Amino acid sequence: MDGTPLPRTTVLVLGGAGFIGRHAVAALLAEGLDAHIGSRHPGRIDQRLPDQARACPRHQTRFEELLSPEAWLARLEGIDVVINCVGILRQRGRETYDRVHHLAPAALAEACRRSGRRLVHVSALGLERPARSRFLRSKRDGEAALRASGADCCIVRPSLLDAEKGGYGALWLRRVARWPVHVLPADATGRIAALDVRDLGEALAKLALRPALATREGPAEFDLGGNHAMPLCDYLASLRRMHDHRPALVLPVPGWLARLGSHACDLLHVTPFSFGHWELLRRDNCPRHNHLPALLGRTPRPVGASPRPSGASQPAPAR
Ligand SMILES: NC(=O)c1ccc[n+]([C@@H]2O[C@H](COP(=O)([O-])OP(=O)(O)OC[C@H]3O[C@@H](n4cnc5c(N)ncnc54)[C@H](OP(=O)(O)O)[C@@H]3O)[C@@H](O)[C@H]2O)c1
Repeated sequence: MDGTPLPRTTVLVLGGAGFIGRHAVAALLAEGLDAHIGSRHPGRIDQRLPDQARACPRHQTRFEELLSPEAWLARLEGIDVVINCVGILRQRGRETYDRVHHLAPAALAEACRRSGRRLVHVSALGLERPARSRFLRSKRDGEAALRASGADCCIVRPSLLDAEKGGYGALWLRRVARWPVHVLPADATGRIAALDVRDLGEALAKLALRPALATREGPAEFDLGGNHAMPLCDYLASLRRMHDHRPALVLPVPGWLARLGSHACDLLHVTPFSFGHWELLRRDNCPRHNHLPALLGRTPRPVGASPRPSGASQPAPAR
């Protein structure tokens, strides 16, 4: 050793001003790494960033325009690792599911393979079963492209995320939980293992620190969840118990009506409830094997109120 300090790892967080992305940036900075932020509007994201992230270099990245490896290579100058936290709930103009969730990540993975850069790709649970939603199919195609790329990459699949502040879905669920009546799809019986978004940010930073991400078989895959798995109605009840010990009245809505409602929400671009989410809620959305404790080296932060005292029905621990 000649005493020369090792160069710091520089990580580009795509979607770095988004809900997951800004927690990844905060965790990277806490680990002493250099974080760069990718955004469609790099000049307009100050309000969304934590204070310590405002000085991070920013790059304009519009996935609908970054569909070739060459386009990405020019943007990866000086970057060692990329974390892709980009996703859209609904399509707008040229920002289609296919471009944003599949074609741009595929081109990015190829650029990373060619240039020897590491890539951490944030995806979602529940994609392995047949789906009609184009949102879900595009995410699955994105994962398949990464597996075929030969890049040094990994796929991270978090369950539903919770936070005290921020996150379109998390905010909505916390708000709905306070309502005295919970109108829920009767077929939303799949279990979710909600996790704290800060834990996900930390897990992403730990992965960025690894010298290699892929295994001999292809990308390493990490399903992540919190400590307990339960269906949506129990999850809302647990969020509600943080503020109010009176249970809400649960009104189940027939599956066909909930599906119709999800299409209406997609058409009008209102609420985080989409057709894709309606499909997801009907199947388990918790990790088969939860990698979060091992990645963090500790138990994940609790989400919602602690499970009911003995005598009451307990949510199942997430495996
Ligand atoms: N939230 C959850 O509970 C959850 C759970 C599991 C998986 N996920 C997945 O994780 C991903 C991110 O979720 P999130 O909750 O962090 O969403 P988010 O807060 O909406 O952040 C997504 C980010 O993507 C960027 N983006 C959107 N369209 C883009 C485009 N065309 N080109 C480049 N960047 C674009 C946006 O950045 P700018 O606005 O700065 O351009 C935005 O901040 C999604 O794929 C989601 O499906 C989320």
